[in-house]
Amino acid sequence: MNQAPDSSVTKPTKLAAQIKDLTKHYVLKSETVRALRGISFDVPEGDYVAIMGPSGSGKSTLLNLLGCLDRPTAGNYVLGTDDVAQMTDDQLSEVRASRIGFVFQSYNLIAQLSVVENIEVPLYYMGQLNAKSRERSTQLATMVGLGERLGHRPPQLSGGQQQRVAIARSLVNDPYFILADEATGNLDSVTTEEILALFQRLNDEGRTIIMVTHEDEVSAHAKRVIWLRDGEIQSDEPVTERKVFTAEQIDAISKNAEVRH
Ligand SMILES: Nc1ncnc2c1ncn2[C@@H]1O[C@H](COP(=O)(O)OP(=O)(O)OP(=O)(O)O)[C@@H](O)[C@H]1O
Ligand SMILES: [Mg+2]
Repeated sequence: MNQAPDSSVTKPTKLAAQIKDLTKHYVLKSETVRALRGISFDVPEGDYVAIMGPSGSGKSTLLNLLGCLDRPTAGNYVLGTDDVAQMTDDQLSEVRASRIGFVFQSYNLIAQLSVVENIEVPLYYMGQLNAKSRERSTQLATMVGLGERLGHRPPQLSGGQQQRVAIARSLVNDPYFILADEATGNLDSVTTEEILALFQRLNDEGRTIIMVTHEDEVSAHAKRVIWLRDGEIQSDEPVTERKVFTAEQIDAISKNAEVRH
């Protein structure tokens, strides 16, 4: 049978991000640390990337640049169609607030605020806190299995629950990109599974995820792994035997999460 080659029918993939020759030097009094030495890669929309590599290889530096928390020393970063390297500080904060969701290892929650209030913090910074916000934060808290904990404050929650609040908070601006730096680094294996199931669900919905991790168990859930070494890309390869949760597993994991805590 004569079939058209795939390339003639596939649409060009839209890119969530294009990174070219990205370089970051930290200039200290006594020396200059070359944390990133010219890194290039594209991230198609809907990708799920794990960034791995030894301590000090530049993973967090790269994630901070991708998240517009810092500026590159040289090189280009195009987010969607916008050239981030050319932006002013105000434009960078606007991009950060409107398009990027961050999840850190240390949760960074505010101890005095309740679960729903913590989820609303980015809206407050964007000046978008309004009558509808509570509905949205409640919805997100429920989605991450914390519907019964809306009024709790972080010190009254387990580590996994706090991380789920942080994930809900990262979603409140309906971000284009979810960036996670060792998001499961402080969690036990069952809780790590819960977080990974949540990430998979978000990725299945079409969100682009880039996460830094040290653990093979975690990177096995991504679609692609980029290895850094001394500020350079050592390898960039698809995950061949990707671990994928079935819909039933995702349901079961989120139900367990609700019961367990
Ligand atoms: N603000 C800074 N000032 C100076 N040097 C820095 C700064 N941040 C990071 N570095 C240096 O840049 C290099 C890369 O650091 P980075 O935090 O990106 O590593 P990492 O891969 O995230 O490591 P880890 O796995 O330990 O978190 C390291 O040598 C580090 O010491
Ligand atoms: Mg780091």
